[in-house]
Amino acid sequence: MFKYIAYVSRQSFILTDEDISNLLITCRTKNTRNEITGMLIYFDGTFVQFLEGPKENIEPLFATISKDKRHQDVILLIDGVSDKRVFEDWSMAYKKITQAETAKLIGQKDFKKEDLFKGKDPNTEHPGLLLIKSFVNNLHI
Ligand SMILES: Cc1cc2nc3c(=O)[nH]c(=O)nc-3n(C[C@H](O)[C@H](O)[C@H](O)COP(=O)(O)O)c2cc1C
Repeated sequence: MFKYIAYVSRQSFILTDEDISNLLITCRTKNTRNEITGMLIYFDGTFVQFLEGPKENIEPLFATISKDKRHQDVILLIDGVSDKRVFEDWSMAYKKITQAETAKLIGQKDFKKEDLFKGKDPNTEHPGLLLIKSFVNNLHI
């Protein structure tokens, strides 16, 4: 069984494309070693990340990520176990998207990034999870 988690967070200071590219090098190297796969979305200073892999590797990684000074307000959206990976071939897929693309992907014209940090509404799926799902659907086209 694999453990999966998804969270949202905001950058603590402005991260350049080069900063993100260095972050991704670390992520991909370490994730390959730890049998972790997943994806990272970067949108207007906000991160949405999905991670999956062996429970004994995911839990310490999430603890490390939560303490990373490059971001703050880390909010866990979902966690669980599954016998199948979603991002089988991706040590860390990455997508930088704009406000307009984000609104389109989650199907809410007036979407604001603050909506990612709102408490759970039991009647609708969290926008962060909708974003991840839209990328999962595109992976399999
Ligand atoms: C938004 C964000 C996502 C991250 N994702 C990962 C990841 O998927 N894998 C990983 O190993 N480190 C990730 N990191 C970096 C970790 O916080 C940490 O810096 C890195 O794992 C090196 O840790 P170490 O020095 O304890 O080996 C992420 C950091 C941030 C800010």
